[in-house]
Order: sequence, then C-alpha cells, then structure tokens
Amino acid sequence: MIVLGIESSCDETAAAIVNDKREILGDCVLTQLEHKIYGGVVPEIAARAHLDHIEDILEETFKQAGLRPQDVDAVAAAAGPGLIGGVVVGVMAAKALCLALNKPFIAVNHLEGHALAARLTSEVNYPYLLLLVSGGHCQILIVKGSGDFERLGTTIDDAAGEAFDKVAKMLNLGYPGGPMIEKMAELGDENRFVLPRPLQNSGDCNLSFSGLKTAVRKIIESYAADGSIEHTILSKQDTADVCASFQKAVTESLLYKLKKAIFIFRSKYPQGRDLVVAGGVAANTYLRGRLQQLAETEGLIFSAPPIRLCTDNGVMIAWAGMERALKGMYNDLDFKPRPRWPLDENAPKAAGAGGVKA
Ligand code: KG4
Ligand code: ZN
Repeated sequence: MIVLGIESSCDETAAAIVNDKREILGDCVLTQLEHKIYGGVVPEIAARAHLDHIEDILEETFKQAGLRPQDVDAVAAAAGPGLIGGVVVGVMAAKALCLALNKPFIAVNHLEGHALAARLTSEVNYPYLLLLVSGGHCQILIVKGSGDFERLGTTIDDAAGEAFDKVAKMLNLGYPGGPMIEKMAELGDENRFVLPRPLQNSGDCNLSFSGLKTAVRKIIESYAADGSIEHTILSKQDTADVCASFQKAVTESLLYKLKKAIFIFRSKYPQGRDLVVAGGVAANTYLRGRLQQLAETEGLIFSAPPIRLCTDNGVMIAWAGMERALKGMYNDLDFKPRPRWPLDENAPKAAGAGGVKA
C-alpha cells in the first residue's frame, strides 16, 4: 500500500509518499518565509503561497519517490484544524487527484498526523500517552487508535509553541521563536530567573502559559529605564538567561502535569507502555531530554519523531492516512475542511478530564 499525504494547514506547504513497510519514499517541505517580517503567520498570504507552490511540491515529491500519480493507492490531506484558506488548497489538490485517478480520499486531522508520527519511526503501541505541543495546541491525550483519543488535559490559554513565539518576539529573536529560544538557552543560566509554574494546584491535567509569558515580560521591562518593553536593553547573556529560565519553566510545567497524566493512564490502561511527544515544540532537545528522564523514572518507553518530523510535514499526514487506509477508513469527496476539529470529539467525556479548549 502506498499513500500520498498533503499538508497545508499553516505555513508549510508539504507532501510526502509512504508505504506500509514504514518507508518514506518522497518527502518535500517548503516553509513559507513570507511571514517572517510580520512576526507571525498571515492567513491570506499563507493561502496564496500554498496555491503558488502546491503543484511544484507534488511534482518534486513524485520525482523523489520515482513514482507516477497513478502508482499511489490513496491520497490523504490535512483537512483541519488550521487556517482555512490553506487547508482548502491541500484538500482541493488531494480531491482533484482522487477524482482524476479514481483513488480513495482520506481527510486527516492535522493533530492526528502529529499524534501518530512516532509510530512510523519507532515501535509505539496503542494505547499510549501523548504530549502534543505545537504552535496552536497543547494537550495531553491517550491515543488508542486512528480517530480514537481521550483527552486528559489541555491549555486554558496559550499553546506551548505560541508562548515560545511570544517570548521570542519580546526578546526580538524573530519568528518562529522556539528554535531561537532553544539556541539562546544553551548559553544561559536556567536558574537565574524564578518563573511561575501555573495551575499546579488545579488538581487536573490542564495547563496555562499566559502568566508565565507575563512574568517574562515583567523581567524584560525591568531592564528598561522607563519600564517599557520597547526601550529595554538586555545583554546577550541576560537574553540567554531569560531564554533558559523560560524553557525550564515551560518544560517543568509540562512534566508536572504529565506525572498526573501518567498516573491516570496507568490506572486506566495498565498494559500501556509508551510515552510519546509530538508537535513543533517536540523538536526541542531540552524538553526531549527531560521527557526521556521522566519516562525512565516512571518505567515507560519514551519515543519522539525525528526532529524534522516534529514541525509540520507531509510525512505525518501520509502516515496517519496510511493507518486509516489499512483499516478502510476513507472519506467522501464532499468532505468539508474543518478549521476547528477537536481530536477527542468522539470520546465520551470523562469526569475530571480537561474540556476547555477545542
Ligand atoms: O507543529 P508546528 O510546526 O505547527 C503547528 O501545528 O502549530 O509547530 C510550530 C511551533 C512554533 O510555535 C515553534 O516556535 C515551535 O513549534 N517550535 C519549537 C521548536 N521548534 C519549533 N519550540 C521550542 N523549541 C523548538 N526547537
Ligand atoms: Zn502542526
């Protein structure tokens, strides 16, 4: 079985081809640089850029794979959640191919793409505990199969990646902020600034990053004579220390709630063995290291996709599509893209589970 996957839900135009032997045959990602000057993704510019590049990306992916379009058995596209203008471009391209080639179409939830990516590259078995940390989402979930998720916790405000991006913006480190903060943090003292660990007493697995972001802002402002963030002058070392302290605070907030989630996961699914991290923030080496330690302490096996498969890519959509195709889970060609699409919408709502943000 061979599946083509298309990703266009944010600022990456990407396509990939995988087979059921877990081989990546073609993999092409174009990160739109058009947004850098705006310090964030501009939806209209993203949609136009997807339209401009999708054909070339598909052509290049087939070239890498040495295959013709008619050689694939199914076409998957990220059909949400995400920026609707971009999602429509990828979904329409996939549907057009399916119509022309008479192949089945698979509408993949972008978050399911992130969630299952580690199963392509590591031995990860259902059910597993997942920390999903991206630019738009931050959730702790139990993954039981394609379309079968149980959410234990979520952020009540910013996503983890969003917090990295906002703090990077305050420090003039550019967009996207995560990789720059990680790089600066390597030079910094993670114990220099004391930052809050939000929602520690909430008793659930929910997370919050907006107070942390405000605390960082106050530190930066304290370095300006007039107390305004625009006039602050931080030395390279101060900046590195803020980055390291912030990265540690985000990581430890995540670990604290994960420990609670591990307890719930264990009591519900004693056969579960795996702890997985996914999404753009999973590219962070410091976070990966701390998660590895946590898994060892808890007697779980830690897995993460290779770093290049953490941020948005076509491989994760192709693989999530493959898992669905192997079960015959196809969609009609009139499937409507979904800008909002919670992963756990089919799960019965458990008492005490996070239910704040879709
Ligand atoms: O999954 P992704 O590519 O797009 C979404 O679906 O949102 O995630 C992008 C997010 C951005 O917020 C970016 O700053 C963050 O992932 N990110 C990182 C790192 N690389 C990307 N955050 C922390 N450390 C990194 N190395
Ligand atoms: Zn993503």
